[in-house]
Amino acid sequence: MTKPDLNFPSSLLSALREARHVVALTGAGISAESGVPTFRDAQTGLWANFKPEDLATPEAFRRNPRLVWEWYEWRRQLVGGVQPNPGHLALAEIERRVPDFLLITQNVDGLHQRAGSRRVIELHGNLTRTKCFEENVALENFSATKDVPPRCPRCGGHARPDVVWFGESLPPGAFEAALAASLACELFFSIGTSSVVYPAADLPCAALRNRAMLVEINPAPTPLTPDATHIFQQAAGIVLPALVQAAWPR
Ligand code: OAD
Repeated sequence: MTKPDLNFPSSLLSALREARHVVALTGAGISAESGVPTFRDAQTGLWANFKPEDLATPEAFRRNPRLVWEWYEWRRQLVGGVQPNPGHLALAEIERRVPDFLLITQNVDGLHQRAGSRRVIELHGNLTRTKCFEENVALENFSATKDVPPRCPRCGGHARPDVVWFGESLPPGAFEAALAASLACELFFSIGTSSVVYPAADLPCAALRNRAMLVEINPAPTPLTPDATHIFQQAAGIVLPALVQAAWPR
């Protein structure tokens, strides 16, 4: 792979080396190089073939629980068969180097944790976890019955993925903790997100209100791009390892 001509401004490198509080917000784009489809990329995005309202809402689940369950089962299998990529690994390295680093992700694939990141806020849940649709309580182990979706052993309701659907609230406390960290950070990375889904898209704006340096890593421009201090319109799996190497040469 040819090395990109990535010139990292010295202001960014010193900010990364010297910062105490750093926040990274990631979206589906950071998992793209692992082979996980994004949502809105025209050709490969999940929404290119499905309509969100037909799959990722409580109403869709009530209408057709089997269809929604099987779509997430497909995504679960897919995620189970891929590996974290150099972008995920670089963020885990940054966490090890920076005194107070928080990773906030919109992704539900669990790849950041598999890459070694420990301080992770999953704003939209995690598709490897399952809960009861009726009780909204985690289902650790449910016998694989013939039912699709499986049934809750407690109440007989449908099992569902433990992810946030459109119109649902985020996990209790998740956004509050993410907002507090974004308001207090000196350096904020927005990585692999189209910055169109709220309230996650409010987080970089909160960092800017605190006069943080804002870095966007995304091959395509987004509504956030005009406000970014530094913009790298390349793949995260290329930019992030190169940034780590430039900041902390081995
Ligand atoms: P999107 O699919 O909306 O955006 C993915 C972004 O990643 C796009 O801006 C791409 O340009 C960019 N991208 C693609 N490949 C990349 C790469 N190799 N490196 C860096 N960036 C790359 O996904 P999200 O922004 O994550 O919510 O979507 C936000 C939320 O909308 C999701 O969490 C999901 C969806 O509805 C829920 O399901 C609640």
